[in-house]
Amino acid sequence: MTFQKNILITGGAGFIGSHLIRLMVNKYPEYRIINLDALTYAGNLENLTDVENKPNYTFEKVDITKMDQVKAVFEKYDVDSVIHLAAESHVDRSITNPMEFVETNVIGTVVLLNVAKNYWKDFAGKLFYHVSTDEVYGTLGATGLFKETTSYDPRSPYSASKASSDHFVRAYFHTYDMPIVISNCSNNYGPYQFPEKLLPLFINNIKHNKALPVYGDGKYTRDWLWVEDHASAIDVIFHKGVSGETYNIGGNNEWTNIDLIYLLCEIMDDELGRPKGTSKELITFVKDRPGHDKRYAIDASKLKNELGWEPSVKFPEGLIKTAKWYLNHVDWMENVTSGAYQAYYKKQYDA
Ligand code: NAD
Ligand code: DAU
Repeated sequence: MTFQKNILITGGAGFIGSHLIRLMVNKYPEYRIINLDALTYAGNLENLTDVENKPNYTFEKVDITKMDQVKAVFEKYDVDSVIHLAAESHVDRSITNPMEFVETNVIGTVVLLNVAKNYWKDFAGKLFYHVSTDEVYGTLGATGLFKETTSYDPRSPYSASKASSDHFVRAYFHTYDMPIVISNCSNNYGPYQFPEKLLPLFINNIKHNKALPVYGDGKYTRDWLWVEDHASAIDVIFHKGVSGETYNIGGNNEWTNIDLIYLLCEIMDDELGRPKGTSKELITFVKDRPGHDKRYAIDASKLKNELGWEPSVKFPEGLIKTAKWYLNHVDWMENVTSGAYQAYYKKQYDA
């Protein structure tokens, strides 16, 4: 079967990657979607069971830091486009183990860029799309928004590694004329997020009557975006974005952590049929995250004005949908928290 495009999506077994794969596989049967993922603790092929047998989907268990393996995938599928999401993504883990973040996020990105450059040679019809984060811009005070022109000022090993990877992607554009786009997105939420991140962790803890560890005073602000809206923005930028450009993606939905947690607690009381105020009792203020960025907020007007994208799901609707999804997917959560998901796929792919 010949496909119009052979698109390599890295990190497709993770949270955002799995939503992007689902969107692309279903919306574009004329494209072959190759999911390249190392299946680290954050990769879970159970996120993709609904598309795993589609004729335009294929999976390769490969580590992006392994040049020969990445090259073999380019050759096997004649890859013409890359959408690169594979990364170590959790700030707290980057504080305890920064080297893993340098290896995957910096070296892994440069390996991909290099393989793409050498394999493509002629860049006509090619694109390297790098998915990045708003955290590269550092932290905001009470006012102001991150624009595409905001100077980089990363504060955590995670954001420093993402900033470094963004710089390398731009360097390949300027030095070698490689066609690239970069998007920098705010906090995503929704189904299939690993329960180390705030919302799935707290939903699961509330369900099991466990403490909700709020870092510091909880007065840290994030801009929350429904994950399928991020996937749709990537689709728009992939097809309509201008090479060499950066696009900020955000939800226009700023919440302090503590207000978000209060809202979540109310929703969870309703969903679990518990008396109002029950979940709130679980809130426990704990030691702050070192270098904790005070506020992130995105100006996504470039994406709206130039490419016509806007978020579609708002609060509280999106938060209610999220709470219901985790409560209704008990097996998914149990497989992840017990580690069973890893044992199963390890056996299947390492055989
Ligand atoms: P995630 O941690 O859920 O998934 C990461 C995926 O990458 C996993 O499937 C993992 O197995 C894979 N991976 C890790 N190391 C790899 C390696 N060496 N080789 C191949 N695969 C590897 O992450 P996510 O939250 O879905 O984030 C995806 C991307 O989006 C990341 O680049 C992240 O920086 C960016 N981003 C995330 C958010 C967010 O709110 N989660 C917001 C903006 C940008
Ligand atoms: O802004 C985009 C970024 O959003 C992405 O690039 C990252 O990959 C993603 O992990 C996310 O980073 P955050 O650090 O903002 O997300 P996290 O869910 O870890 O934390 C959200 C906020 O909640 C943050 O201010 C820290 C706080 N927090 C988090 C946890 C896990 C707590 O107070 N308690 C917790 O237990």
